[in-house]
Amino acid sequence: MNDIIAQNKASWDAIADSFFGVTALPTYGCLCPTEDELHLFPQLQDKKVLDIGCGSGHSLKWCGDHGASELWGLDLSTKQLENATGFLSANGYTPKLYNSPMEQNPGLPQDYFNIVYSIYAIGWTVDIQTTFNLISSYLKKDGIFIFSWDHPFMHCIDTADEQLVFSGSYYENEPFMFKKNIEKSANRSNADHSKESGHPLTLYNRRLSDYINALARANFMIEQLIEETDSETLARECEFSSSYYAACKAKKFPLSFVIKARKIM
Ligand SMILES: C[S@@+](CC[C@H](N)C(=O)[O-])C[C@H]1O[C@@H](n2cnc3c(N)ncnc32)[C@H](O)[C@@H]1O
Repeated sequence: MNDIIAQNKASWDAIADSFFGVTALPTYGCLCPTEDELHLFPQLQDKKVLDIGCGSGHSLKWCGDHGASELWGLDLSTKQLENATGFLSANGYTPKLYNSPMEQNPGLPQDYFNIVYSIYAIGWTVDIQTTFNLISSYLKKDGIFIFSWDHPFMHCIDTADEQLVFSGSYYENEPFMFKKNIEKSANRSNADHSKESGHPLTLYNRRLSDYINALARANFMIEQLIEETDSETLARECEFSSSYYAACKAKKFPLSFVIKARKIM
């Protein structure tokens, strides 16, 4: 597991610049309704927020712009945090940023935050239960945890002969490695599955029940599970495309999911 974290850190440091401002609030994911439509966040005025996998800090800026009183972030990548520090200070914010894997507590306070959130980063954890237990420990009772990630169908459905085919297994839970070239795109893509070049990244596929049951064990009650494609994509004609985040897929199933949960004890 430590090998996976070390490899992912090296690769995220290398690709950080191409993810500057990619997948940040109010965006939750790919062809997914945004926070402007979903309104999952409570009022942020005078609230303490923590971003898990804060990347370049764009979501933290969104929280600051909406009145949050304290901005805290954690990320595995030193380069992402350098970018976040520059971006947030240029915008007048002084966040507390921690360079750490989410699977460990680098010194974050317990029972402190009103809101912990994570936009397209939770799926990188190598230990979902430990990560959710830690997030629960950072939150005050009744605190809110919101996160988004690829819908689990994404690792099962492929394209062949201009058709979507269910080619994978929903039960596949072995970690898998793909290579990421430096380009601006959200997460995995078909082209990334080339073994020849690029920065190696390793992920675990998980079922929705893996997330939901781990949340329950970490003292969370789920308030909302969002499995939606945005209305603009649903309304328009889409040509067939074999790309990983293709609109023709999004018309049939959600490419991303979002969960809002509350710490109950
Ligand atoms: C798609 S980016 C998230 C973008 C970010 N949410 C934003 O608002 O700009 C995913 C982030 O997860 C971080 N990451 C990957 N594995 C991690 C881990 N085990 N612990 C903490 N952060 C991790 C990466 O360094 C990267 O910055």
